[in-house]
Amino acid sequence: MITFSHVTKSFRNQRVLDDLSFHVEKGETFMIVGPSGTGKSVTLSHIIGLIQPDSGEITVNGMTLNNLKKEELRALRQKVGMLFQGGALLNWMNIFDNVALPLRESTNMPEKEIREKVRSVLDILGLEAAAGKMPSEISGGMMKRAGLARALITEPAIMLYDEPTSGLDPVMSRRIDSLIGEMKLKFAMTSVVVTHDLVSALNVGDKIALLSGGRVLECAPPGEFLESRNPVVRSFIDSQFSIKKEFAKAISER
Ligand SMILES: Nc1ncnc2c1ncn2[C@@H]1O[C@H](COP(=O)(O)OP(=O)(O)OP(=O)(O)O)[C@@H](O)[C@H]1O
Ligand SMILES: [Mg+2]
Repeated sequence: MITFSHVTKSFRNQRVLDDLSFHVEKGETFMIVGPSGTGKSVTLSHIIGLIQPDSGEITVNGMTLNNLKKEELRALRQKVGMLFQGGALLNWMNIFDNVALPLRESTNMPEKEIREKVRSVLDILGLEAAAGKMPSEISGGMMKRAGLARALITEPAIMLYDEPTSGLDPVMSRRIDSLIGEMKLKFAMTSVVVTHDLVSALNVGDKIALLSGGRVLECAPPGEFLESRNPVVRSFIDSQFSIKKEFAKAISER
């Protein structure tokens, strides 16, 4: 469904993606983890055609993304939904209208149906009370969920999530995890999820890829990933567990 083959991308003199190759099957939930600044968001931006590679090839749903024409880019954007790291809501529209926007802009769905659909998605994400509020009037976590509602409303074949659980409390994080799982079951949706949250990666990922230095150092199903002998993977996993250990220690010393 999505293939990166020897992709490189530099900004000025900085090489961000360096011979990046990976493959995501249809219906798979593919998790990308890795240190900050390693090119995870840049990778997602390539999949939705916001950034073009310097070299190498990217195919999404049978379409090769190098030198896309405007029409092809529009076709791609209809298939691929994205939850941006910051939510990316329009600040002059209330939450309801933000979520309804993709349906009003790119479908002929009657307004009554749109309203029902938006209500049901807001409901699932616990945003009923926020519908009439402006983005500046809601919390960061609510903004994130509203961004998610807007991305999912058109039921795209491919969903890209940039840090869907960061800044959310653990209960809401697990709710987002189950939502990603549900989209897969209901719509056979293919998902690429960038996350710092190892629990989330282990919960919902069919595969976990560790990106570091602009390439994939390890890519395996959760069980195998945890057993990896790659030293960078080990230190990534240990760093996540050590946070939990420090936390337990702080509590026991209180
Ligand atoms: N449009 C751009 N122009 C110039 N440099 C960019 C651009 N986008 C990203 N970069 C650079 O590319 C590198 C990778 O950025 P990216 O946002 O992909 O990191 P990330 O892995 O998503 O990090 P984080 O976990 O902090 O979100 C960074 O050094 C960033 O400054
Ligand atoms: Mg990022």
